[in-house]
Amino acid sequence: MATTSRRRLIRVNDLSDAALAELFARARAFETGEALPGGRLQGRFVVNLFYENSTRTRVSFEVAAKRLGAEVVNVTPAGTSVAKGESLVDTVRTIEANGPDVIVFRHQDSGAPEVIERETKAAVINAGDGSRGHPTQALLDAMTLQSTLQRERLDGLMVAMVGDVIHSRVARSNMDLLPRLGARVRLVGPSCFVADGFRDLGFEVAHDLEEGLRGCDVVMMLRVQLERHQGVSFGSTREYHRRYGLTKERLDRCAPQAWVMHPGPTNRGVEMTDEVMDDPRCLVRSQVEHGMFVRMAALDMLVSGGAA
Ligand code: CP
Repeated sequence: MATTSRRRLIRVNDLSDAALAELFARARAFETGEALPGGRLQGRFVVNLFYENSTRTRVSFEVAAKRLGAEVVNVTPAGTSVAKGESLVDTVRTIEANGPDVIVFRHQDSGAPEVIERETKAAVINAGDGSRGHPTQALLDAMTLQSTLQRERLDGLMVAMVGDVIHSRVARSNMDLLPRLGARVRLVGPSCFVADGFRDLGFEVAHDLEEGLRGCDVVMMLRVQLERHQGVSFGSTREYHRRYGLTKERLDRCAPQAWVMHPGPTNRGVEMTDEVMDDPRCLVRSQVEHGMFVRMAALDMLVSGGAA
């Protein structure tokens, strides 16, 4: 983003190494209070355009923009002319006519952010497109690990991503980001969710949960994305939980020192048990907390550029 002519954060790889370091530095400065948010986006206009449901991402982008002093408008299909059949392009053109500085955009189709980018002069932030990318989620996941481990680089860290990798935009963005920070990534799940071909891209693959957890430092559980399955058969959720659900016993036995993450929303009793959710090793709440600082930093860099 800071290094391209176009102001965008659509893929993790829109960030150069320098821009990535700057974003984390800025997010930390907001977290510690070293950088004061008040007024940095005064007079700016942020539109949250969400075609898919969201709690964490939409709330934290809204809070982040407001803390920076921006005006925020939320647009969802319900209650707008999208529900009357207005196309994506016409919707964006209508929003564009109101002069937004940033459009934060979530859509069910992979590649949709590039479509709206052609229709607006605003900076575009991808808040999740289909199964392709969710860059601010990966950034907040990385910041959570940096903060937990008290180090910027994640060299030597083994992160096991468990579950529905193939449909997960969170997995895709983390697969782009974590290796850049020095971490190794192991993909764990049934063959319908974790293709052996991922090995050719440099990732470890395991189809057995206990084997996949062994020796890892972080277990990142992924939501089973039922809404994206379209004919994929993975059996019942009960059977899935029996084979791939994270229980305290499994965690204690296979990776007792590992931190547990989940981007949310969690299907309790499917990806992991209530007991794991409430375990001190579980970083889910910390992930949500870091989301706001990462999103403040992203908005601030896209709109105002320069140093924190
Ligand atoms: N992690 C995530 O994107 O959550 P929401 O769908 O609630 O925004």
